[in-house]
Amino acid sequence: MAYNLLKGKKGIIFGALDENSIAWKVAEKVHEEGGSFVLTNAPIALRMGKIKELAEKTGAELIPADATKIEDLENLVEKATEVLGGKLDFVLHSIGMSVNVRKGNHYTDMNYDFTTKGWDISAVSFHKTMQTLYKKDAMNEWGSIVALTYMAAQRVFPDYNDMADNKAYLESIARSFGYFFGSEKKVRVNTISQSPTPTTAGQGVKGFDGFIAYADKMSPLGNATADECADYTLTLFSDLTKKVTLQNLYNDGGFSNMGVSQQVMDTFMKEEDS
Ligand code: NAI
Repeated sequence: MAYNLLKGKKGIIFGALDENSIAWKVAEKVHEEGGSFVLTNAPIALRMGKIKELAEKTGAELIPADATKIEDLENLVEKATEVLGGKLDFVLHSIGMSVNVRKGNHYTDMNYDFTTKGWDISAVSFHKTMQTLYKKDAMNEWGSIVALTYMAAQRVFPDYNDMADNKAYLESIARSFGYFFGSEKKVRVNTISQSPTPTTAGQGVKGFDGFIAYADKMSPLGNATADECADYTLTLFSDLTKKVTLQNLYNDGGFSNMGVSQQVMDTFMKEEDS
């Protein structure tokens, strides 16, 4: 259902790779709600992914940018404001990658070059994006910037590996930069902490099937889907949340406040009995 929540609003959406991507769902829904945007992803993802399909469907321009490279981000922000005809109202950072996870390196046996690359892509890219927007004064007052995160920033999930540290770093950048963006430009910055979701990045985590099933059984409302994450993101882009900033907001069916659920207890007791 569309409410015209984002009518006339302009923005940049990072990280749509294929139709499972959370950013893909956000782009579809922003389009439905009357917003216009530029889509961006790393040059390699543009070559491999299906993002052209999404650009055609939503009437969006596609501008490649490696989010770790300042010159790419500068070019992106300049072109996006040109194409969209003015400053921006919303930005979604939906980027994550750990080379240690990808190569199967255990948390206790990291390759630190991979670690560095991982935090650059997953966390510092958010600082670089915001610094570029800030220096170019590219955000409208009461604009909204959102990044996606996961609860491994607060609690231990062993197989989440160095992505847990990257997410803690990302959330801290949101607060620290959010202070300056808020007090000087009236722009809000938040992170959404999403349930495990079956996407390319999500499925890269070892034991993902168990991980997602456990979270679903623990959460009173069940796991939040990518579609539901997109809905929540839209509220943060809309004028209905103008004073929400510096927050890490859970979209997780209640998981983050649970100790144990009856369903998990039942499963555990069944295993004990057999
Ligand atoms: P996805 O794999 O569809 O999206 C990740 C995106 O990051 C891809 O589009 C990829 O091309 C992009 N990317 C990687 N390196 C880049 C670079 N150097 N420059 C620009 N873009 C780059 O997966 P998903 O799940 O939609 O991920 C989006 C965000 O949601 C990530 O921050 C992820 O950590 C977060 N998240 C995902 C959860 C899950 O279980 N899938 C749970 C909680 C948070």
